[in-house]
Amino acid sequence: MITFRNVTKKYGAHLILDRLSFEIQPGEFVVMKGTSGAGKSTVVSMLIGAETPDSGSIEVDGVIVNQMDEDTKQLYRRKVGVVFQDYKLLPKKTVFENVAFAMEVCGESNEAIHRRVPKILEKVGLLNFQDKFPEHLSGGEIQRLAIARALVHKPRLILADEPSGNLDEENVRAIVNLFKKLHEEGATILMTTHDPLVQELVGGRSIVLENGRII
Ligand SMILES: Nc1ncnc2c1ncn2[C@@H]1O[C@H](COP(=O)(O)OP(=O)(O)OP(=O)(O)O)[C@@H](O)[C@H]1O
Ligand SMILES: [Mg+2]
Repeated sequence: MITFRNVTKKYGAHLILDRLSFEIQPGEFVVMKGTSGAGKSTVVSMLIGAETPDSGSIEVDGVIVNQMDEDTKQLYRRKVGVVFQDYKLLPKKTVFENVAFAMEVCGESNEAIHRRVPKILEKVGLLNFQDKFPEHLSGGEIQRLAIARALVHKPRLILADEPSGNLDEENVRAIVNLFKKLHEEGATILMTTHDPLVQELVGGRSIVLENGRII
């Protein structure tokens, strides 16, 4: 599903990723760990083509992401569900509208939006919050809204960047259980975290980034 081949990335003189290579098979649920600044979000950005490597290649589903033109990238991104570390929610839109917007920008019909959005909100346990604004949500609810938005296009690949950061244990468990359910339903998942509890709860394989490489 995902192949990083000798990916190197520098910001100025700062080497972030140093010939990083790893693979994720379809259907895997992989946790990527590493201290703050290790490059986890950079890996996620590269997987959606928001950052380009200085050298090496990033392949997803047989296509080289770092060689896609802008149009192809736009279409590709719809197939990948991304939960951003900083959520990227729209503060002036309600819970419903935040999720709906992700469908609107792709030209989906009103009917499709009104059919799909409640289903997703139910899945993440936010159906009763649909008219609330992000500023009135708790940390756990905000995380679940960010997850809901990532699910609008039924992605087979989900990239979740610290989706349980800053949450108490109960909420961390709830978030991990949600991803486990998505995994059982067939999604391939890459989740970054620096929380040992997350790795323990997920179980499967974990990748540890340190000094730009996997240890
Ligand atoms: N656009 C940028 N310009 C310059 N430096 C950057 C840029 N983006 C990230 N960096 C630097 O690259 C390094 C890796 O950042 P990244 O966000 O990938 O780390 P991370 O592992 O996600 O950390 P955290 O756990 O805190 O989220 C950091 O030192 C960061 O300051
Ligand atoms: Mg990060």
